[in-house]
Amino acid sequence: SLSGIVAILCAYLIGSIPFAVLVSRGMGLQDPRTFGSKNPGATNVLRSGNKSAAILTLCGDAAKGWFAVWLAESVGLPDFIVALCAIAVFLGHLYPVFLGFKGGKGVATALGVLLALQPWLALATVATWLIVAYASRYSSLAAIAAAIFTPLYYLFGGNVAWPFSPLICAAIVVICVIVCFRHKANIARLLVGKESRIGGKKAAGP
Ligand code: G3P
Repeated sequence: SLSGIVAILCAYLIGSIPFAVLVSRGMGLQDPRTFGSKNPGATNVLRSGNKSAAILTLCGDAAKGWFAVWLAESVGLPDFIVALCAIAVFLGHLYPVFLGFKGGKGVATALGVLLALQPWLALATVATWLIVAYASRYSSLAAIAAAIFTPLYYLFGGNVAWPFSPLICAAIVVICVIVCFRHKANIARLLVGKESRIGGKKAAGP
């Protein structure tokens, strides 16, 4: 339907808003695409040394994911369109029209999407991220672990902790698989011990 197509397009445009770049620019910091991992995301903004900028980036990128799905749900669009909007806002962050289609890895945006789709699942995802991040000090490893566990939580919690929807499940699986692929360079660095740790001084290599 036309309203569905409009909603998906809106979700993509909302996802395209690059908070890492906007926050850095607004706070007079260096563009995150020029240092560290070169990734326009909260983790790399943190490498600028400015924690508030990193938190603002995290909140902005998560908020847009939440908002796009919330909007689709609150105007009463069917599950199928809501699931496509969830994927669209996430892909907007990865391939933003405003940054020449070179965006981030989608971790914060995926979290926002989950928060709108299923708050308890989002809580479990955050807990997973925090445990792995605390233990390893690797933001990327925490994201990969969270992306592997989240679909499993959704499957095993289905009709127990939340009503199970195959469409929402598919959207979560698609997003989590893409998050993992998007961390290819991080995985390569992790394997050779060259990934930078949260709070560490050394920036990530090429
Ligand atoms: O949110 C992305 C994070 O998992 C990794 O970021 O900058 O270390 O590649 P980065």
